[in-house]
Amino acid sequence: MKLNRIVLLSAMLVTALANTTFAQSLRSAYDGAFLIGTALSTNQILEKDPVQAALVAKEFNVLTAENDMKSSLLHPEEDVYKWEIADALYALAEKSKSKVHGHTLIWHSQLSRFFRDKKTKEDMIAAMTKHINTVAGRYAGRTFSWDVVNEAVEGDGSLRKSVFLEVLGEDYLALAFKLAAAADPKAELYYNDYSMTGVEKRNGVIRMVKKIQESGAKIDGIGMQGHWGLESPTIEEIETSILAYAALGVKVSITELDIDVLPNPRNVSGADISQSAQNTAALNPYVNGLPDEIKAAQAKRYKDIFALFLKHKSVISRVTLWGVNDGNSWKNNFPARGRTNYPLLFDRENKPKEAYYSILELRKKK
Ligand code: G3I
Repeated sequence: MKLNRIVLLSAMLVTALANTTFAQSLRSAYDGAFLIGTALSTNQILEKDPVQAALVAKEFNVLTAENDMKSSLLHPEEDVYKWEIADALYALAEKSKSKVHGHTLIWHSQLSRFFRDKKTKEDMIAAMTKHINTVAGRYAGRTFSWDVVNEAVEGDGSLRKSVFLEVLGEDYLALAFKLAAAADPKAELYYNDYSMTGVEKRNGVIRMVKKIQESGAKIDGIGMQGHWGLESPTIEEIETSILAYAALGVKVSITELDIDVLPNPRNVSGADISQSAQNTAALNPYVNGLPDEIKAAQAKRYKDIFALFLKHKSVISRVTLWGVNDGNSWKNNFPARGRTNYPLLFDRENKPKEAYYSILELRKKK
């Protein structure tokens, strides 16, 4: 009898340890709730740093190229495609049993010059058709989802006056989604944008998505980028937008999440990279490390945000962090270049931060 009890207790201890160890990853902890992704630089896609490569494989189950699948890098000239890094991303995802979210097919920024030179409807339609057919077609069946159109709506809700809008009018939006669906019927198709909790912006996005739906095009989801601060937007503002977008009958993804802890110059909001600000000591207060109270505030902010996502996990399909560790983040150079920011879940030594444990904690009780 005594031996049986010892065996049973040992087995229980091993199971408990295994569960603790196994659950010590974002992708396993959030399994069954929503996908947890990250954006990867060229070197991260090529696994140049084995420590980061192991961390990415362990923690994330959906991978996105931060820059390498934007048209200016993937399709720099009308008859030139550069597939190496994108191909490596898909191979990496396959190796780590992760999915790929493609970013992005149609975007006014980092746009190949040949698109900008199209002046007639016929030429622009042909260029969009060739780009989307070739890119989405190459990875058809292997892409979980696409940002089909990125950042087409201004803060006041009007459509951004991109070269696509100027040449084709708003029909370019439905065209992009119809082309993507034809090129890869399996991929989920998203509209992606920043500052998506603003009332005017949200109303403009809703108007636009409804028109895309009325055109008969397939649109599966709306991506809220999630470039947020410690206090803004509020949880209530985020929730209002999640529910408003979901009411369209689409999924909602948080596509580029980072929580900025630095002072924000008054004139900059969202992620419009054309904005910039002068770097000053006042705007760059944590060069020598993050004070404990800011670490705690960021951990609480991440916990509150993920608690909201879990509350609405029936409509949230994915949460992607926009980068792996604080040193990789674009927020070290936006809106002021050369600042020391701390927006992500892993520090510059790839160690999990308090914020990482705060969101894992939410799933311990699952
Ligand atoms: O790779 C070159 C390097 O060779 C060169 O020496 C260096 C000189 O500055 O530039 C490097 O390219 C930079 C690239 O990031 C890779 O680091 C570009 O200048 C820089 O503009 C580019 O910034 C990216 C930004 O989009 C602009 O496209 C950021 O990494 C990326 O995080 C950011 O991501 C966007 C999303 O795609 C859309 N939503 C907003 C988000 C933040 O702006």
